[in-house]
Amino acid sequence: MKKKITILAIETSCDETAAAVIKSGDKWPEILSNIVSSQVDLHAKTGGVVPEVASRAHMESVIPVIEEALSTAKTKIDDITHIAVTAGPGLIGSLLVGFNAAKALSYSRNLPLVPINHIEGHIYSAAVNAKQELENKSPNDGKFPILALTVSGGHSSLTLVEDHQKYRTLGETIDDAAGEAFDKVAKLLDLGYPGGPEVSKLAANFRQSARKTKIEFPRPLIKKPNYNFSFSGLKTAVLTEVKKNSADSVARKEEICFAFEEAVVDVLATKTLRAARKYRPMGLVLAGGVAANRCLQEGLKYRIEKYNSEVEEKYRMNFYLPGPGMSGDNAAMIGLAAYWHVLDGDIKKNFEVKVDSNLSLVNS
Ligand code: KG4
Ligand code: ZN
Repeated sequence: MKKKITILAIETSCDETAAAVIKSGDKWPEILSNIVSSQVDLHAKTGGVVPEVASRAHMESVIPVIEEALSTAKTKIDDITHIAVTAGPGLIGSLLVGFNAAKALSYSRNLPLVPINHIEGHIYSAAVNAKQELENKSPNDGKFPILALTVSGGHSSLTLVEDHQKYRTLGETIDDAAGEAFDKVAKLLDLGYPGGPEVSKLAANFRQSARKTKIEFPRPLIKKPNYNFSFSGLKTAVLTEVKKNSADSVARKEEICFAFEEAVVDVLATKTLRAARKYRPMGLVLAGGVAANRCLQEGLKYRIEKYNSEVEEKYRMNFYLPGPGMSGDNAAMIGLAAYWHVLDGDIKKNFEVKVDSNLSLVNS
């Protein structure tokens, strides 16, 4: 009989303290609990994450959040078989809090530790929805690769997932992340923190009003024959527009948010579909905090439908989004990614693992 796996996963790489319990299911793992304690209110006061403040808040919440994850899952610590934890990338002071809690539990309970790359976790938050197709039910034969666009406050990357735990980074941002650009534009327009949802809301108001705009923000790197992104120039273009014509009225803010969001979505979707044409993935995963953006979801959906109507049936792509509460940082995604490492015996002793704030996703 297959041995039961019950993973306690911990994530503290940025400004959410999170813990989750994942159990082996029939074939794919099941999420028993997914607890997130957000620091958003704390960072709203400063208009962004202050690393020192974030790590202090993690220290206060990490034990209660772990306890809540266990009690919600109706699981005792004695039932846990593995501890999974985010080992990077992220803010070093934040990462260390979850990491040390995981190491202490692993040491005191003599449990194996599974260090997980945060981006790998984000990818699994949506890739878990590909389980049916990966079990050979898709027109595309249910085979890897999957293409993953991970867009959050800290990262923007296109990854080719060639198999569980086999990753090829096709491109990354060379400066700001997509979510960071949303947050900076929100700050410029005095819209509060985190900025993504608010910018998106104002852009939607503009779209619904059927007004027209003459603002055409740049599409950085869109024509470059690579899969890298750049968003800092776009933020500067917004600043120039605000200085030139001001942005005092709600109507002007809506117009600027709309033009900005269109530019971001155009760049992300164009590069993603270009990669799809080259690598012919069975599906696209959209993950990370910015995956909650409706305009990005719709833009990708529209282009995938067009792509699917143009390619042979065997090349048609599915589209996977994170489930409810799974697009922002959470620990269930870390536990899901860890499950495949555990199946492969890729586990560590607590003294063998290291935290790395710049950890890259190379066959991790
Ligand atoms: O994945 P996440 O929770 O944390 C990081 O790993 O960074 O992503 C947070 C980011 C923030 O920059 C936030 O503004 C952005 O995701 N975000 C959005 C939306 N919801 C959250 N950006 C655009 N549209 C949204 N609806
Ligand atoms: Zn994240």
